[in-house]
Amino acid sequence: MRRLILAAASIAALTLAGPILVGPVAAQTPIVIKFSHVVAPNTPKGLAAEKFKELAEKYTGGKVKVEVYPNSQLYKDKEELEALQLGAVQMLAPSNSKFGPIGVKEFEVFDLPYILPDLKTLRKVTDGPLGAKLLKLLDSKGMTGLAYWDNGFKQMSANKKLVAPADYKGLKFRIQSSKVLEAQFRALGSIPQVMAFSEVYQALQTGVVDGQENTWSNIYTQKMHEVQKYITNTNHGYIGYVVVVNKKFWDDLPADIREQCAKAMKEATDYGNGQSAKENDDALADIKKTGKSEIVALTPDQDAAMRKALEPVYQDVAKRVGQPLIDEFLKETRGATN
Ligand code: LMR
Repeated sequence: MRRLILAAASIAALTLAGPILVGPVAAQTPIVIKFSHVVAPNTPKGLAAEKFKELAEKYTGGKVKVEVYPNSQLYKDKEELEALQLGAVQMLAPSNSKFGPIGVKEFEVFDLPYILPDLKTLRKVTDGPLGAKLLKLLDSKGMTGLAYWDNGFKQMSANKKLVAPADYKGLKFRIQSSKVLEAQFRALGSIPQVMAFSEVYQALQTGVVDGQENTWSNIYTQKMHEVQKYITNTNHGYIGYVVVVNKKFWDDLPADIREQCAKAMKEATDYGNGQSAKENDDALADIKKTGKSEIVALTPDQDAAMRKALEPVYQDVAKRVGQPLIDEFLKETRGATN
């Protein structure tokens, strides 16, 4: 696989460099930004990526061409980040959870159960000093963090009705490659299994795993509701993304082009984050319409029992990312409840 990626990287490098041209033809050769992602086009991330394409091409007057590759067409989860570091693609928006395996485990703090009461509170973290500090950590990995994009809150699904913590015992759950998510399912007595996003539907269908957690928009667009009898409205965790660009590529862009792309990114972020909640609400309504999965609501007592069962995850994670980081995060989010 590494060899394949390397081959792709050199092809991409050639594409970027392009033939050596002079005169008017040279002016027409656009700078290509390959933007790879793993979800469907009609999701919060898919739509924000398309918006960035539209605006970046507009603001640069066509000097930049953004090619968006959705649905893991180019790379699956972890390969995506390797491809970015090698320069085979220029831009990605992986979920926070996916930065742990490349050595930036601090982003896993976003995975802590019930850490964010709502998207407004999240904004205090991502738009404030903590958000900026976290993005800076990416520099040493050969990438520049440009923005935080929302998806939304996660729900639990299985072929068994999940209302009490005890219902999770012994079930296999697909997780993203995050130690926090592993600790979360272990706290419930389940067996977590790391798996690429593109493989989840089939794993659920064939029974390789019993359940999964994801947002309404991801569940709907991957048709997971067709192979899961129950989806419990837990809102127990958050999925959001960090838009990253290959650092060398970004630093080497002519200053005016970089500024225009940054402006496009800012506007695409406002656009995407402004409508992610609605996209998840719409996906929930669409799932309900299919009648294929029963949507289960928790009573306040059941919700409280889930929160209690997942409390130990905080101690577990403090050992990995340090209590000060968790405290810094909680300082921003404190005072509000989910
Ligand atoms: C997942 O792997 O479940 C998500 O990170 C997919 C995504 O990018 O929303």
